[in-house]
Amino acid sequence: MKLVTKAPYSRHGQHHRRFILSSIAFILFFCLLASINEVQFDHLLNLGHCNGSIISTTTTTNAAITNSSSSSSNATNTVAVAADDEIRILIGILTLPDQYPRRHFLRMVYGTQPAPKGAKIDVKFVFCNLTKEDQTILVALEIMRFDDIIILNCKENMNNGKTFTYFSTLPDIFSDNGNNNSSQLEAKPWPPYHYVMKGDDDSYFRLGNLVSSLRPLPRDDLYYGYVIPCPSMDPFVEYMSGMGYLVSWDIVEWIKESEIPRNHLDGPEDKVFGSWLKEGRRGRNRHNAKWSMYNFPVPPSGCTHEFWPDTIAVHLLKNQPKWIETLKYFNATKDLKPSKLYHIP
Ligand SMILES: *[C@@H]1O[C@H](CO)[C@@H](O)[C@H](O)[C@H]1NC(C)=O
Ligand SMILES: *[C@@H]1O[C@H](CO)[C@@H](O)[C@H](O)[C@H]1NC(C)=O
Ligand SMILES: *[C@@H]1O[C@H](CO)[C@@H](O)[C@H](O)[C@H]1NC(C)=O
Ligand SMILES: *[C@@H]1O[C@H](CO)[C@@H](O)[C@H](O)[C@H]1NC(C)=O
Ligand SMILES: *[C@@H]1O[C@H](CO)[C@@H](O)[C@H](O)[C@H]1NC(C)=O
Ligand SMILES: *[C@@H]1O[C@H](CO)[C@@H](O)[C@H](O)[C@H]1NC(C)=O
Ligand SMILES: *[C@@H]1O[C@H](CO)[C@@H](O)[C@H](O)[C@H]1NC(C)=O
Repeated sequence: MKLVTKAPYSRHGQHHRRFILSSIAFILFFCLLASINEVQFDHLLNLGHCNGSIISTTTTTNAAITNSSSSSSNATNTVAVAADDEIRILIGILTLPDQYPRRHFLRMVYGTQPAPKGAKIDVKFVFCNLTKEDQTILVALEIMRFDDIIILNCKENMNNGKTFTYFSTLPDIFSDNGNNNSSQLEAKPWPPYHYVMKGDDDSYFRLGNLVSSLRPLPRDDLYYGYVIPCPSMDPFVEYMSGMGYLVSWDIVEWIKESEIPRNHLDGPEDKVFGSWLKEGRRGRNRHNAKWSMYNFPVPPSGCTHEFWPDTIAVHLLKNQPKWIETLKYFNATKDLKPSKLYHIP
């Protein structure tokens, strides 16, 4: 059994060791339980494989429902013993403070997808400064309940730098400087996320397929997405569509530090993003996820594709019927448990 941990503050070594020991004890306990009962813990606790080297007990994918009744064990919230091959992904969905129903809907959509094995995916909603009185209550309540919101220091905009603010703020948000104390932090892995995505709120991501497609790819200098223009399959010519593009953590840090992005903020955000990488000669590893990413099939165009199982993302889900059709095709409700409490035809 191989445990990979980072201990940034070694003066807490004693604590740290005790923490690790109790974590191991906890994991062994569950392995024992699992082997006796052959219980499938998969969806409750993302413990990974008990008998191998894969031990990942970080908070599971269902970011939106972390604190709901299903995470009954308090240990799952704090243990952060990351395995070598755990992939950590942040999906930041850029949206607006007033889009309450959309966030509610997306939380259900992502909170009910099975957690991909060996991956930790955090889905967070990203917007700029609140501007209305009611938002200060409603958004605060959401954060207290779901803790999946990032409020940037900016004035709402789509094509005037919000994307820059998003990426360039992340290193500070997740650096954890200024809080030395808690034992949780001592075991925090680095980088906080291998990959960071900017997604649209009318895109639907299939998390399992996303993780599978990322697994063979480099974890540095990576630029991933749906190549624009639609007929092109060459990721090195233009840029990735704003429906959802992803970069490795080193590029996130580069965006924060380089002069290039901050000097070029205005224009279609996805195109501008591509131009930074071109000018900075970044993203030398690129992956075109077309045609696993595509626009909703109707109306057909050069950017659409029929639904197919090998889907990573569907874009332009502009209304409820389109979402329903999509969720139906991907069997989003197949894990609904039978109960006397309800009957759904
Ligand atoms: C458990 O270990 C055995 C032997 O190393 C291996 O064949 C098997 O695939 C492992 N099972 C899991 C679930 O990792
Ligand atoms: C879980 O929380 C309870 C109280 O909330 C505490 O007594 C217990 O020690 C915790 N267990 C672990 C493993 O942290
Ligand atoms: C989740 O639960 C933990 C422990 O019970 C608590 O410390 C944390 O603040 C809760 N988070 C949210 C968003 O409610
Ligand atoms: C956003 O809000 C913060 C804190 O309230 C404030 O300091 C900052 O100036 C605001 N930024 C903008 C762009 O309005
Ligand atoms: C955290 O620890 C570092 C070095 O041990 C110290 O310089 C810093 O002031 C500490 N931060 C806080 C908030 O205590
Ligand atoms: C650590 O936490 C304790 C108790 O919560 C507090 O008294 C102390 O000031 C904290 N130390 C640092 C460096 O934050
Ligand atoms: C949805 O479920 C049906 C019936 O079990 C199956 O035939 C189909 O392949 C599933 N679709 C996807 C995308 O998994």
